[in-house]
Amino acid sequence: MSRKITIFDTTLRDGEQSPGASMTVEQKVEMAEALDRLGVDRIEAGFPVSSPVQFDAVKRIGAAVKKATVVGLARCRKGDIDAVRDSLAECSNRMIHVFIATSPLHMEHKLRMSEEEVLVSITEHVTYARKQGFDLVEFSPEDASRTEWDFLVKALRTAVDAGANTLNIPDTVGYATPEEYGQQMANLKKAIPELGDTVLLSTHCHNDLGLAVANSLAAVGAGANQVEVTLNGIGERAGNAALEELVMALRVRKDYWDVETNIRTEYLYPTSRLLQSITGLIIPRNKPIFGDNVFSHESGIHQHGVIKKRETYEIMDPVKIGRSRESLVMGRHSGKHALKQKLEQYNIGLTPEQMDALYEKFIVIADKKKEVNDEDLFTLVSGVLGELPSGWRLESFQTWTGNNVIPSASVRMTRGKEVRQGTEAGDGPIDAVFKSIDECSGIPGRLTEYVIQAVGRGKDAQGQVKLQVDFGGVIADGKASSTDIIEASALAYVNALNRMELMDTNREKASL
Ligand code: KIV
Ligand code: ZN
Repeated sequence: MSRKITIFDTTLRDGEQSPGASMTVEQKVEMAEALDRLGVDRIEAGFPVSSPVQFDAVKRIGAAVKKATVVGLARCRKGDIDAVRDSLAECSNRMIHVFIATSPLHMEHKLRMSEEEVLVSITEHVTYARKQGFDLVEFSPEDASRTEWDFLVKALRTAVDAGANTLNIPDTVGYATPEEYGQQMANLKKAIPELGDTVLLSTHCHNDLGLAVANSLAAVGAGANQVEVTLNGIGERAGNAALEELVMALRVRKDYWDVETNIRTEYLYPTSRLLQSITGLIIPRNKPIFGDNVFSHESGIHQHGVIKKRETYEIMDPVKIGRSRESLVMGRHSGKHALKQKLEQYNIGLTPEQMDALYEKFIVIADKKKEVNDEDLFTLVSGVLGELPSGWRLESFQTWTGNNVIPSASVRMTRGKEVRQGTEAGDGPIDAVFKSIDECSGIPGRLTEYVIQAVGRGKDAQGQVKLQVDFGGVIADGKASSTDIIEASALAYVNALNRMELMDTNREKASL
């Protein structure tokens, strides 16, 4: 049987500490539930002594999480340990994470403590944590990768003797290299025989040099059996080791690592999307595993290969991480093959002559636009066939808002020759626009995700809106940009509506 790697998720503690990532208590609870569903083994819920809000968040997460162990962070101070104890008093599956810095730089300039004093503090506080009823105590020597070797071993030995049963080795400033960090783990296993046996050996890597995942993997190779990670790699400065990258590296290369985790990979992408929509921290298009581009193929050669056999250019199946398989991006490098395949996804079959005519028009558009989207494609197909009903178009909209009026909106939409008008009030102008669009289409939608991001700088920056709408059980994504964020939101909503109708039409055709 393969060795089990414990996934310790610190998205809600180290991740939330990063600028722009802060969440409300309710949002943290929602994220914790999603992480629990994802299958992480341990959830670090926060640093309860730091504020009443943090305390409340840890408490509520402790009550909400069903399977994972809930962890609270404490410095080597009794007040911190008391706060973890009190916030998790009603949580049966709980753990405490106690830390103190051990590198010369931190001890001298931050703590102003000698090595001897640090050792005394470790014994005192790990012992105190055990006495507060914590069976699971993790100890971290902060800045371990810049700590002198002999002192690191002494600090860890002291923690184990005082009752710690997980030793976490933070590369706090992302300074280590994979070879060094892996070697440090292997040496620690020799120096502290309980490691890997009664005591878990854990990694905690920051990404300042882009090595967090590589360092964590090197440590797993050297015998570490817990990894501390954050979803989307959020965290202090350049972030922490990304959960999804680490888990998928272990999964895709199981032949190499021969380890397993409890992660239910099909929940990865939806959980990442939830985090992005809660924090507004949107990942780049080329971010491994989750980026918009990572399962998209535009060049003719790659599209041809993927159509013949997906594995030619994809090392993992997008469906297994909760993404869809809609991977062909239509652009100037796309060939006729890909265009045909794209149309087949929508059950549109063309004769060879129609296909030639369509391809000619497609190339003209593709030369002008970065990406030919589904709406463009359908307009082209209607031109060729002269019969395909076009999707909804937003012709115009107006909104009324202010601090003394009920926000409302009026929209005018067309679909082929049909013209409709809708006017509704809402919680804000965007909500009013969405409701007015629903009135026009006659299909009520429930917004399940909404993320807005500025693209570019200054006055000309575009607001890019990505959203997800539940239209009576059919979930559709929509995306649009404009310098006006209300317009970007309205266009993204119409985009989702059109996609939903296409998905629905196909489902009907498929079931005929
Ligand atoms: O990076 C770090 O050293 C930490 C500790 C609190 C474990 O986050
Ligand atoms: Zn950290």
